Amino acid sequence: MAPDPHPDESRPPTESGTLWAGRLDAEPAEALMAFTVSLPYDRLLAADDVAASHAHVRGLVRAGLLSEADGVAVAAALDVAGAELATGEFTFAPGDEDIHTAVERRVTELAGDAGARLHTARSRNDQVACDLRLFVKRELAAVASGVLSLQQVLAERAAEAGEARLPAYTHLQRAQPVLLAHHLLAHGWALARDVDRLLDARRRADVSPLGAGASAGTSLPIDPDATAADLGFAARFENSLDAVGDRDFVAESLFALALLGVHLSRLGEEIVWWASEEVAFLRLDDAWATGSSMMPQKKNPDVAELARARAGRLIGNLTGLLATLKGLPLAYNRDLQEDKEPLFDSLTQVRGALAALAGLLGTATFDEARMAAAADDPFLAATDLAEVLVSRGVPFRAAHERIAGVVRAALAGEGAFEDLAAAEVGPEALEILQPGGTLARRTSPGGGGPAAVAAQRERFAARLAADTARLTALDT
Ligand code: ARG
Repeated sequence: MAPDPHPDESRPPTESGTLWAGRLDAEPAEALMAFTVSLPYDRLLAADDVAASHAHVRGLVRAGLLSEADGVAVAAALDVAGAELATGEFTFAPGDEDIHTAVERRVTELAGDAGARLHTARSRNDQVACDLRLFVKRELAAVASGVLSLQQVLAERAAEAGEARLPAYTHLQRAQPVLLAHHLLAHGWALARDVDRLLDARRRADVSPLGAGASAGTSLPIDPDATAADLGFAARFENSLDAVGDRDFVAESLFALALLGVHLSRLGEEIVWWASEEVAFLRLDDAWATGSSMMPQKKNPDVAELARARAGRLIGNLTGLLATLKGLPLAYNRDLQEDKEPLFDSLTQVRGALAALAGLLGTATFDEARMAAAADDPFLAATDLAEVLVSRGVPFRAAHERIAGVVRAALAGEGAFEDLAAAEVGPEALEILQPGGTLARRTSPGGGGPAAVAAQRERFAARLAADTARLTALDT
């Protein structure tokens, strides 16, 4: 490189120490700083900022933009700053607008002139996107692992449940008996799709924006492919404007978390309902229940209710970010800073809900006798009785009508359903109306009877093992 003809002409920084002090004559207004700083929350990116800066420094050294000696000095300063941030010893300065500013300031304090070269061929625009992608990759994997733990609890409870049965419901009306294991695994399969979605969103986040600069790249000879590989990204960006302006990976993460939250809310609602005194299929362990400040008899399912409620926030975080992104011109706009709080909040809420629901479900007790009594309501065999007629060649519509007639006659008090059914269908009806009698016949693949559920248990265990392996294989 040609030597700089004016080596000492830079103006001293203003007191506030902002990164743009050389351009503006006034100190930033207090209210401006208060309104624009992101440090209170983006310090969560500290470790990723330090890691990305390390890779950037290595890239600058390889490009000959930083001498080996300066590279060593900056790397050492980054290590110190990183350690101080990790232990909480890091002292933030009034001009530290965000975590990137704070780290660069500290590195410059520690490494002097070498530190002042850290931001060569880099903008906070590509830096923040890079940090956030590193963060998202790790966090989505962590959430997926939390989902797997909850699925594990569901699988264990399903195994313990053996052939315990309860009604399946449609419209919250008793429909047909199924195994409790079938019902529990239904939630487990929804969660399996969440794992898939989280890992899929993670895959699209796995692109390095480092090297995009402020918006247009740089005239300096950097190699974004190499820094991408250094940071463990699967690829580098294709277009610098897209790289700094894109927050799809945050929106997708928020969607994956929101839908996961919706699934947790449905599980939560089920628990609330099951634990109600009217239904009473489930008793909560005392450690996972709450009491009332006024009514001494109460034992409340607050965990399940809050899991149900948190979905509202998760949906809000997603729609809030989409509204922020809508209509934004390319490329970077400060609006994009608004991506972090919803993301951090959704991650915290989902991780909390996963852990709490796993604890609650793992310790609750099912009242199998009460569930069986509800499942053995003879009306719940009506579909199976109609299917007996179908197996004898009766068209289903006609079979449905004949059994509906039996139900109506029983409801009208013309006799016991069992007797009326036996009169219509023959002695096979009595066999079906034995406790659990419908379940043995429910053999269709993926259905709620014991044979199908045995196969399902195996498939679920295989899916859990495969997803666990997928997660372990990730370089997080
Ligand atoms: N705190 C900022 C953010 O989160 C960092 C990028 C600032 N870039 C800028 N051009 N002001 O988006």
